[in-house]
Amino acid sequence: MDAVRVENLVKRYGKIEALRGINFRITPGELFALLGPNGAGKTTTIRILCGLTRPTAGKAYFYGVDVFQRPVAAKKMAGLVPQTINLDLELTVFENLLIHGLLFGLSKNEISQQGRQLLRFAELLERKNHKVRTLSGGMRRRLLIIRALLHRPRILFLDEPTVGLDPHIRRRLWGLIKRIQQQGTTILLTTHYIEEAEFLADRVAFLDEGRFITEDTPQALIARLGEFAVDVVREKGLETKYFPNREEAEKFALTLAEKAETVTIRRVNLEDAFVYFTGRKV
Ligand SMILES: Nc1ncnc2c1ncn2[C@@H]1O[C@H](COP(=O)(O)OP(=O)(O)O)[C@@H](O)[C@H]1O
Ligand SMILES: [Mg+2]
Repeated sequence: MDAVRVENLVKRYGKIEALRGINFRITPGELFALLGPNGAGKTTTIRILCGLTRPTAGKAYFYGVDVFQRPVAAKKMAGLVPQTINLDLELTVFENLLIHGLLFGLSKNEISQQGRQLLRFAELLERKNHKVRTLSGGMRRRLLIIRALLHRPRILFLDEPTVGLDPHIRRRLWGLIKRIQQQGTTILLTTHYIEEAEFLADRVAFLDEGRFITEDTPQALIARLGEFAVDVVREKGLETKYFPNREEAEKFALTLAEKAETVTIRRVNLEDAFVYFTGRKV
């Protein structure tokens, strides 16, 4: 059974078509990434699946449970890490967990035990009684993530979990996200960072203006273009060509070395695939 199944999801805000009928499935234990520029519809997708806004049309299921017909059962299965940090800065780390746990109907005892484990997991245990106001940006993000795990959801929704963070703090969060997946949680992640999708995702969907352009494993999306790319800088601008192997890329590069200003041979990456399939940059 699919952990998540989404069928023909449509969302209109007046005249704006935020989602124009998207379809996808996530298998249990998988990390699926929605990659797309600002305004693509990533947050809208997550907000609909987490019951924060109604779809205009479409269906969604978590492990066979109809998300819109049985919202309470669906919400119990889902943990949400929102794009904007909505922790209470004046409360302590543990108090933030406590309120969240009580809202999900957990007992104080459960919250204490599970909270302790999660705080240790996210290396925040020593901050348990500190006000959130005193935490760094990276710590707040980690707290936001473990708060979403408190009621042991089977599916975790991460909306741009590393936006605006320094590269080394971002890498640390990637480690945390990988470990959550390894413990068996299914994850839907949105991002506009190509390297984040490439590093974390088992499968990636390219989303643009409310539509799915294509989806596959990062390796397969790259392989559709080839293995090596030749960037040619001319007066007109940058042109990139793709080749199945290094020999052919070199052969092509040698034919233009004199005419072009700069020729670079490199491996194809997920950004190439995104630009190629959507016709623009993230
Ligand atoms: N509450 C809202 N009212 C009106 N338009 C909205 C609302 N939320 C999102 N939109 C619009 O829907 C589109 C998709 O937005 P969003 O899902 O936030 O994109 P992303 O998360 O990929 O940046 C955008 O054009 C955005 O302006
Ligand atoms: Mg968003």
